Amino acid sequence: MLHPLEQHLQAILDKKKAAHHYRTLRLNDELLVDFCSNDYLGLSASAQLHERILSDISNLKAVGSTGSRLLRGNYALIEETEQIVARFHRAEAALIFNSGYDANVGLFQAVARRGDVILFDEFSHASTRDGIRLSHAQAQSFKHNDIDDLERLLQNNSTGNVFIALEAVYSMDGDHALLYDIAYLAQKYGAYLVVDEAHSTGTTGKNGEGVCASLGLEQQVFARIHTFGKAMGVHGAAILGTNTLRNYLINFCRSFIYTTAMPLHTALAIKHAYILLQEPTMQTQIEQLRQNISLFNVLIKTQLPQAHFAKSYSPIQAWIIDGNEPARLAAQQLQKAGYDVRAILSPTVAAGTERCRICLHSFNTEAQIVGLIETMKEING
Ligand SMILES: Cc1ncc(COP(=O)(O)O)c(C=O)c1O
Repeated sequence: MLHPLEQHLQAILDKKKAAHHYRTLRLNDELLVDFCSNDYLGLSASAQLHERILSDISNLKAVGSTGSRLLRGNYALIEETEQIVARFHRAEAALIFNSGYDANVGLFQAVARRGDVILFDEFSHASTRDGIRLSHAQAQSFKHNDIDDLERLLQNNSTGNVFIALEAVYSMDGDHALLYDIAYLAQKYGAYLVVDEAHSTGTTGKNGEGVCASLGLEQQVFARIHTFGKAMGVHGAAILGTNTLRNYLINFCRSFIYTTAMPLHTALAIKHAYILLQEPTMQTQIEQLRQNISLFNVLIKTQLPQAHFAKSYSPIQAWIIDGNEPARLAAQQLQKAGYDVRAILSPTVAAGTERCRICLHSFNTEAQIVGLIETMKEING
């Protein structure tokens, strides 16, 4: 017998089911070819990474951190890891968070204050939007990657600090932000750039240092968010910026202060993932990933209708299929053929842009990519 509140909740769930965007959890089918994880370089299952973590783990003095970093939860390994991360991405300082979600939520909550304005790309991730909601700043979205729209908003906003929030690589379409142009506008209008490098960490730049560092824009960006749960194959995130920003976040960022610091083995895993990323074998993996992205792009260009794809030179490729049910069906057909591709439905993406989100990896073989495209052609009819 459900309580009245549970009956109400169940009615909401039933409505969601009827609209074909009911979410459920399921375990992975390991037999399917991975075209959906964010593990772009295969680091999560790297034997080298596992061995290094395992050989060091017995030296750790504890499992859990035991508290907030402002209490007994701080430890030398996490600070050492922050220094490795900061050096690698050419930043003055890094502050580690338990996840990219925590980092984005906490950053905007802490730095954007009443009277400030946050201009964010309309395709910004939920974590950025939630952080904006927690701040007391005003917020306005600009059209996706639209420099003119952004400049129009910048011209209208002159009081308080102005922040521009964007993603180096967008999580749903896989396209790159027009970072040079936006950095120019930020400078022209005295705005502060915040760049989420979740999907460019490990995949962009010679060693995977990300878009800002590879374009030499580090100095023009106020804060960068690098996450470790995607190409780095582990978990957690860091906000990069000046020492002042780091100290400010330690003092005011609620998702940093009011939570237990990550366990020691997670910091160890991040440290080893960063050390490994800088070795020549990983450059080969990054190059292989780029070749796979090129192959996929050539194949879709020659074999499938272009209008159905967002233009992307990143590991994320969006095959747009209008409607929740058709997108879900297409993903099911791809899975039946042996390819693990997941549908992204509205309202996660705008209605009419429902899609199969295809993630490419360094470990996907040419035969797998060709086979995937062949199946997409059959579904397309
Ligand atoms: C652009 C972007 N930012 C932030 C996050 C959150 O990162 P994490 O998974 O580490 O919480 C994600 C993850 O989906 C993302 O795609």
